[in-house]
Amino acid sequence: MDDDYRIVEGPPPLDDYLRLRRDSGLTPVRPDQGAGAISGSWSACHVVAADGAPVAMGRVLGDGGWYFHIADIATDPAHQRRGLGRRVLEWLIADIRTRAPEGAYVSLIGDPPGQRLYRSLGLDDVAPSLGMAAVLR
Ligand SMILES: CC(C)(COP(=O)(O)OP(=O)(O)OC[C@H]1O[C@@H](n2cnc3c(N)ncnc32)[C@H](O)[C@@H]1OP(=O)(O)O)[C@@H](O)C(=O)NCCC(=O)NCCS
Repeated sequence: MDDDYRIVEGPPPLDDYLRLRRDSGLTPVRPDQGAGAISGSWSACHVVAADGAPVAMGRVLGDGGWYFHIADIATDPAHQRRGLGRRVLEWLIADIRTRAPEGAYVSLIGDPPGQRLYRSLGLDDVAPSLGMAAVLR
């Protein structure tokens, strides 16, 4: 990550959160869903470009004891492959190391674009377990 970028503790503003999810290709969410993401995370950070625009983000859902789930890792396509995603993940993992008791279990659902990055940071496939999910309608 070069000097044009700066990492900021906390989530981006709601509009930027919604934009980054949409523009990076993650499933878009509504403002009422995003509001919970902004206010309810155990940890979050984002990256701002030289013009002040948020261009990358990530957050952690956690119980503060042992279970920590990384979510919303996204970089604006115009700023990808410059080390921002790595920087966000390193910041979040360092925050867990600093504030959580030893033995923290860190998990995520690894979409294909991020899998090499996650592996390089020490996260492993959970096979034979499966990541499982449902969207409640
Ligand atoms: C996954 C994602 C967040 C990665 O963000 P990013 O900012 O591009 O991440 P990085 O730049 O740190 O690393 C990505 C790749 O760029 C490479 N890279 C880093 N700096 C680089 C540079 N200066 N020049 C060229 N490549 C570089 C990394 O080695 C890495 O390569 P790899 O994927 O082949 O291992 C991004 O692709 C994205 O938003 N994807 C869409 C949303 C998504 O799927 N999110 C994951 C949900 S689980």
